[in-house]
Amino acid sequence: MLVLGIETSCDETAVSVVGNGRRVYSNVVSSSLKFHRRYKGIIPEIASRLHIETINIVTEDAVKQAGTKLEDIGLIAVTAYPGLPGSLLVGNCFASALSFSLNIPLIKINHLHAHLYASFLSERRPCFPFVGLVVSGGHTNLFYVRSFSRIESIGCTQDDACGEAFDKVAIILNLGYPGGPIIEKLATQGDRRRIIFRCSNTRAPLDFSFSGIKTAVLYYVKNNLKVKDSIMRKDKRHLADVAASFQEVVIDTLIRKSILACRFKNTKRLVIGGGVSVNNRLRERFVSQARDSGLDIYFSPREFCTDNAAMVAGLGYCLRKN
Ligand code: KG4
Ligand code: ZN
Repeated sequence: MLVLGIETSCDETAVSVVGNGRRVYSNVVSSSLKFHRRYKGIIPEIASRLHIETINIVTEDAVKQAGTKLEDIGLIAVTAYPGLPGSLLVGNCFASALSFSLNIPLIKINHLHAHLYASFLSERRPCFPFVGLVVSGGHTNLFYVRSFSRIESIGCTQDDACGEAFDKVAIILNLGYPGGPIIEKLATQGDRRRIIFRCSNTRAPLDFSFSGIKTAVLYYVKNNLKVKDSIMRKDKRHLADVAASFQEVVIDTLIRKSILACRFKNTKRLVIGGGVSVNNRLRERFVSQARDSGLDIYFSPREFCTDNAAMVAGLGYCLRKN
């Protein structure tokens, strides 16, 4: 069955055609990021207006690239929550109209669950049950997944999301937006253990908190003349240690809590998805940890880590089939 996936929860207008939940025939993503960059964050009004302008053409492209016709689509899957309300509204109205006019069934998808489904788009697929870690710009969650229709939330961030912390630290260092890829690149030149940062403790052991470490970076920068000077002169020399030390402790925290979740749930399988999971250092550290602790780790293919509609179409098929 061909499924048309539609994703508009944030700044990406994405449409994809996926066969039987596995074969990605097309995956078109149009991002409005360049219009948000100057504001150093996503402006919801701009995002939703651009979804309206592009959703038609992105859908046409996705159907054309898949070498099919809308009439051959058996199911429409659309991200229904969580996300920016105005952006979700555009995708959901469009999907409902398409479903009604073509008489194709419509299924509503949880964006975070779709990030976990993304790892099922690779050759090596996990078995159930598993612990799922979603690390994105808006969310940091741990789930216990018995099947895609039986997902239990076992931990989430109490304040900033993991990707949001990367974005905010990059803004503090005046490096640009979005911060994740910039921090990752800069961190390769820095000393990871040079500065001691810490992620705040949380009352529930599987919850996360990233707002304290962001403030710690801010104070470190304020109190360190060399770093302050580097930021003013746009000289990255002294910033690499900050980026590397920050990134390392965030990864330490993600690993520690994921291992704890696997222990609590008595499973060795860990599935990781979301925009931050494209980070090479994160992957390297999780893989080496897996070797030590006997965990079986599954990452999404890189092209399906950040927001896309293939993961939405895939999960739509999976839920419809069961
Ligand atoms: O999953 P995603 O595309 O959107 C949401 O659902 O939020 O994730 C976007 C987030 C941004 O915060 C971005 O800075 C982060 O993923 N990100 C990264 C990297 N690439 C993107 N974080 C760390 N390292 C990266 N290489
Ligand atoms: Zn996402």
